[in-house]
Amino acid sequence: MGRRQFMNFLTFGTITGTVLGALYPVVKYFIPPSSGASGGGVTAKDALGNNVVVSEFLAKHAPGERVLTQGLKGDPTYLVVENDQAIANYGLNAVCTHLGCVVPWNSGENKFMCPCHGSQYDQTGKVVRGPAPLSLALVHATVEEDKVQFTPWTETDFRTGKDPWWT
Ligand code: FES
Repeated sequence: MGRRQFMNFLTFGTITGTVLGALYPVVKYFIPPSSGASGGGVTAKDALGNNVVVSEFLAKHAPGERVLTQGLKGDPTYLVVENDQAIANYGLNAVCTHLGCVVPWNSGENKFMCPCHGSQYDQTGKVVRGPAPLSLALVHATVEEDKVQFTPWTETDFRTGKDPWWT
């Protein structure tokens, strides 16, 4: 290889490497994350950080209860115990859509009632009283091998019939 050829080769390699390095984050930004349990999913954890074991959980919690667990990105997320002693196929992000307080479940009122500024949400997390502008965010809750897998909810919000505001 001649000197000129060698210099061309070096220049080409340097420019190509630089361009590819600069483009990588741009390309990565435009590729959507994979969906499903293997992409972006987490196993629900209790207050102590242990995995929720569904059989034990259902033995301890009555139908109609909403129980706080740790969900996607560590967000406080309610598991919903349904009347047939099963976990609902959706979980509710407990962060108030007004200013971010964690909204407690009030079983007497059958509502989520925010202590900060009085917003209320029905038993599915649909906002029924402001100032919160939006319903609580949904996640999918799937039972696999006695554990609960939370995955992002990107489909239509079944409570409003609209696209999810949280995606
Ligand atoms: Fe919940 Fe304001 S933070 S009502």
